[in-house]
Amino acid sequence: MARTQVAVIGAGPSGLLLSQLLYLNGIDNVVLERQSREHVAGRIRAGVLEPGTVDLLLQAKVGERLLSERLVHDGFALGFAGRSFRVDLKRFTGDAVSVYGQTEVTKDLTDARLAAGAKLIFDAAEVSVEGFDGAHPMVRYSHGGRTHELNCDFIAGCDGYHGVCRRSVPEGASQSFERFYPFGWLGILADVPPVADELIYSNNARGFALCSMRSLMRSRYYVQCPLDEKLEQWPDERFWDELRRRLPAQVAEALVTGPSIEKSIAPLRSFVVEPLTFGRLFLVGDAAHIVPPTGAKGLNLAAADVRVLFQGLTEYYRTGRSEGIDRYSEQCLRRIWKAVRFSWWFTSLTHKFSEDPFSHRLQLAELDYLTGSEAALASLAENYVGLPFERTDCKAAPSETSAVPTAPPHR
Ligand code: FAD
Ligand code: PHB
Repeated sequence: MARTQVAVIGAGPSGLLLSQLLYLNGIDNVVLERQSREHVAGRIRAGVLEPGTVDLLLQAKVGERLLSERLVHDGFALGFAGRSFRVDLKRFTGDAVSVYGQTEVTKDLTDARLAAGAKLIFDAAEVSVEGFDGAHPMVRYSHGGRTHELNCDFIAGCDGYHGVCRRSVPEGASQSFERFYPFGWLGILADVPPVADELIYSNNARGFALCSMRSLMRSRYYVQCPLDEKLEQWPDERFWDELRRRLPAQVAEALVTGPSIEKSIAPLRSFVVEPLTFGRLFLVGDAAHIVPPTGAKGLNLAAADVRVLFQGLTEYYRTGRSEGIDRYSEQCLRRIWKAVRFSWWFTSLTHKFSEDPFSHRLQLAELDYLTGSEAALASLAENYVGLPFERTDCKAAPSETSAVPTAPPHR
């Protein structure tokens, strides 16, 4: 029967990044992905990376293209009451965010894993996880018409919100916290130059809009829409008209439109499961938490989980000490809840929740206060670029990994 040290379920950004970091630290792992490689590569999602995420990607040795192709943004704009206000991230934090698509992150990681001969299995069907409450976890899956069993020391559930890992935790062993928002984001991608050099988050009486980008020639735009909206109701012309109406006049005039190359609707939700660890199963990234995309935190939070887990596992395999993995859930949840709070707050400030004009006036008053207060701007900026990490140094050092214990004493 096949055996590995860590079975990684899901080849989204968190699974691939964890796999790559473990590999660089000499820890054997297998990644099982339900979808095809093409499907995973084609999903258009996040676009903004915190500096901490960029650091981790560099540590994972997948930073070359990122460093040469990313757009570094020292600030972003808030649109409201017909005007645009720039939030200077650099001034308040000394840092900047990077615009680099999740599709590119996923591609860089997939290429690196495959070039290193990784066991990365796409189209794995009927994945199930077992025995993680004891010393001998096992993953079962079918591939190429055969059923396979994979024994492992640990399972990393990196399989997203709809994955199998969280659903495999026994009833009563976890608690979920959830909030649904009464709207979604309709997003389009178009090969037109972005309307501005930096992102614009726009509060408008008709609803929220976001101007983002993937490159100097590719734009990503979103408008808030009702949850039951269908894509067929949104031909390109309607989208561009609605976007224009939600932007400050000067910005709307500068908008360059063109045919969309992708269009999708995403619901907005906040979700956290506690704890993140069940015996030898760790939930990572969207499998454990979802935030509305307004704060650009989802992918960055996933990377932050990976950082803590890979450090804990590396310590464990190098020294036999389990303090790091024992603290995984608690350490990650502290950051997660702060990001959940920030994403909820930023969503509440910028979106239309009802027809109630009183609520809109309150939002405008808060935006007026925020943009006039150094303290409030500093708080927004430090949350947006990403809060600092707890210090636990653990650099890739494959040569030190020869002392790997084969039968882990953990629990
Ligand atoms: P996923 O990307 O969901 O990957 C999980 C993987 O597991 C998938 O490949 C899936 O196919 C696989 N899988 C599922 N079930 C199984 C199974 N049973 N067996 C095997 N494999 C399985 N985040 C940001 O940080 N910044 C942004 O700007 C941003 N913008 C966003 C905009 C939109 C419109 C949306 C929808 C999201 C945005 N996010 C953003 C969030 C970000 O995309 C996610 O947080 C991120 O994809 C999480 O990565 P993950 O690897 O944890 O999960
Ligand atoms: C994106 O470019 O897709 C994007 C950017 C910022 C966000 C959310 C999404 O807050």
